[in-house]
Amino acid sequence: MAETSSDIDNEFYQAADAFFHAQHGLALTYDDVTLATLYSEVIPRDTQLDTTLAPGLSLNIPIISSDMDTVTESRMAIAMALNGGLGIIHYNMTEKEQLSEVSRVKNNVHGLIHDPVKVTPEQLIGEVLGMIEKKKYSFSTFPVVDANGHLLGLLPSNVVKQRYAKRKVAEALTPRKQVQTIRQKEMGADAIARADKFFTDHPGIHKLLVVDEEDRLHGLFTMSDVEKITQERNAQFKPARDSHFRLICGAAVSATRNAFGELDRNRIRDHVSALVERGADVVAVSTAHGFSKGVGETVRVVREAHPELPIIAGNVTSAAGVEYLASCGANAIKVGQGPGSICTTRIVAGVGIPQLTALYVSSKASRKKGVTLLADGGITKSGDIVKALTLSQAVICGGILAGCPEAPGHLMEIGGKMYKQYRGMGSLSAMKAGSAARYGHTSNATQKVAPEGVEALKEVSPSVDQVLTQLIGGIQSGMGYLGAANLSQLRERARYIRVSPAGMREAAPHDVVEMKAGN
Ligand code: XMP
Repeated sequence: MAETSSDIDNEFYQAADAFFHAQHGLALTYDDVTLATLYSEVIPRDTQLDTTLAPGLSLNIPIISSDMDTVTESRMAIAMALNGGLGIIHYNMTEKEQLSEVSRVKNNVHGLIHDPVKVTPEQLIGEVLGMIEKKKYSFSTFPVVDANGHLLGLLPSNVVKQRYAKRKVAEALTPRKQVQTIRQKEMGADAIARADKFFTDHPGIHKLLVVDEEDRLHGLFTMSDVEKITQERNAQFKPARDSHFRLICGAAVSATRNAFGELDRNRIRDHVSALVERGADVVAVSTAHGFSKGVGETVRVVREAHPELPIIAGNVTSAAGVEYLASCGANAIKVGQGPGSICTTRIVAGVGIPQLTALYVSSKASRKKGVTLLADGGITKSGDIVKALTLSQAVICGGILAGCPEAPGHLMEIGGKMYKQYRGMGSLSAMKAGSAARYGHTSNATQKVAPEGVEALKEVSPSVDQVLTQLIGGIQSGMGYLGAANLSQLRERARYIRVSPAGMREAAPHDVVEMKAGN
């Protein structure tokens, strides 16, 4: 029978099983391969990027910010969730601090402010000004309540001024009968739509207070928040929210050991329960070596205590590692040992697998066990994400986000350029700050151990919004070339071929004097 054009294509551009088996014995990473185009009717901007990582945990874009102390605290987690992704708050802080960080994300604007900041009639306006200054509030309108929480009025921003500092709130407030309110039970199933209609029907009113039958204050809508949320509903990639319309947030936990070196089950259980109470949507048991007893037992402890909680665990690079963590109760497995931009595990320990091969091998077990894979580390450009997503459900990024203003850490100027600190969680300084358990060491022994990460700088980058817009644009382009309308079609349609060193050079701008970077 005559060879068809498709036969020729399939001989050279192979689907994952044929391709990786043909590379038997050779470990490949993103730049070693390229994806082949396919006939397409898919317009990149119409592609869907939603991904389900676990029952009850779905993202609108497949990107997660890494649980590193120079990448994800509440500010980064808020920005990630607002863009449809997820941030995992790191654990190089006290448990109490981590709980506050989770609360900050969960309490970020979600339309109805359940516990608005209130003032009392006896307070002086000067005291209110002092509170605004101390707490760095960006608003200056406050409901006024009595000792029992009954609404007495609203202190409008136009009287919260230094010239009225000596006056009492009682003298300056807008009285109760002029304040617009809604009863809790009148809000209905879609409180935002109800508030939106109220603001349309009442020009000039920007605040709507929620009260109960006894006129006690229970919440506050502001027009700007409601407008933001209404706009969001029309955006292509909506913020990732929980069933209460709060932004989603993850938190990292470690396989904590007690003074005798035994797994501290009670402490792990209490820590995770406190995180869940604050509204954490997922916990990540984050270690360098996930295919180990301590990590598996930690996952089991969490799973027993919280049967429904989405659990991420890792890191592994083998099918057996995926199977082990899945059987311990994890839903999503982090794949990656040594690909990170600040990692030295492969150099120090001589261990680790280039990322694409690690993902392929792991994917054989993830499919069997019904768990998802997160490609963790080594992402330097959107094309890497497209390749990673052919074998995983989401990527975890550190370095690519570490220069954003939303990442923790100070700016520093060197030779007229601005930089931000970015360090491996296995670097000596990060381990001293608390992450030693991730690398199987105790904190006080850090002087004696070999670090597996470096301390580095990243040139400052634009905001998370802008970085993600570029990455998402690239992912959508890749999907358009493959004729994939969504991420499961991307996984089905991917066909790979190896790239020679000359091919790699050809892929980047060459033989030109670049005047403006392409990103
Ligand atoms: P990127 O490439 O996005 O990688 O900067 C971030 C990921 O790297 C892992 N990580 C480390 N790996 N030593 C390591 O071998 C370290 O010190 C270290 N710190 C972070 C982690 O998986 C992260 O998401």
